[in-house]
Amino acid sequence: MPSLQATGVCTEPNPSSSGEKRKDREELIPMKLLQYLELNLSADRFQHSKRVAEMAVMLAERHGGDPEKANFAGITHDLAKEMGTVELLKKAEEFGKIKYEVEVNCPDLLHGPVGAAILRQRFGIEDESILRAVAHHTTGAPGMGKLEKILYLADFVEVGRDFPGVGELRELAFFDLGKGMLAGINLAMVKVLSRRRSIHPLSVEAWNWILGDRNEKGGQGWNDYEKP
Ligand SMILES: [Fe+2]
Ligand SMILES: [Fe+2]
Repeated sequence: MPSLQATGVCTEPNPSSSGEKRKDREELIPMKLLQYLELNLSADRFQHSKRVAEMAVMLAERHGGDPEKANFAGITHDLAKEMGTVELLKKAEEFGKIKYEVEVNCPDLLHGPVGAAILRQRFGIEDESILRAVAHHTTGAPGMGKLEKILYLADFVEVGRDFPGVGELRELAFFDLGKGMLAGINLAMVKVLSRRRSIHPLSVEAWNWILGDRNEKGGQGWNDYEKP
């Protein structure tokens, strides 16, 4: 597997220039939305969101995505993460976002769809690629677009993450978004299974879709995953 440097990617950008760029990008987020995040997220979660945004920007730059949208999706993706279970279920019902039984049994799965609904309804965000990315950042989904894959992986491998295999997954994400997604969903499903929890149907659909998509594009599904 090539190193990030070999793929032209530096995960430790110059602190001064990256700090300035980050400040510029933060200015593109509406003030009332930043205030909402600061008010509704713990300091740790807000820092995580900033790291996800930075990783998403790097992945977008690497894969020809839109860095501004990646930054926006990264900063806002956990908007509803710290909502209490009762309120999360109430909001999900209000917004018509409960689609699967597993979401009632494990309401945390709803923080993506509810966060996206709040972005649309309360803050007037209409960019479907951002809304889909935020909605699906935990589960994945079939037909994922570039920004959805970038956010899913950025959340998984932001520089504060520390779990066995994170380095390899980070490299894979920079090398190939599809392969990164396969490895990411694989890891996520193994974790869910080992905890004897239910797998969200969208994760299964995302897995099957990515394998099929790779086959269609001349790959060999899972079989070409190990060979970046
Ligand atoms: Fe999340
Ligand atoms: Fe997150």
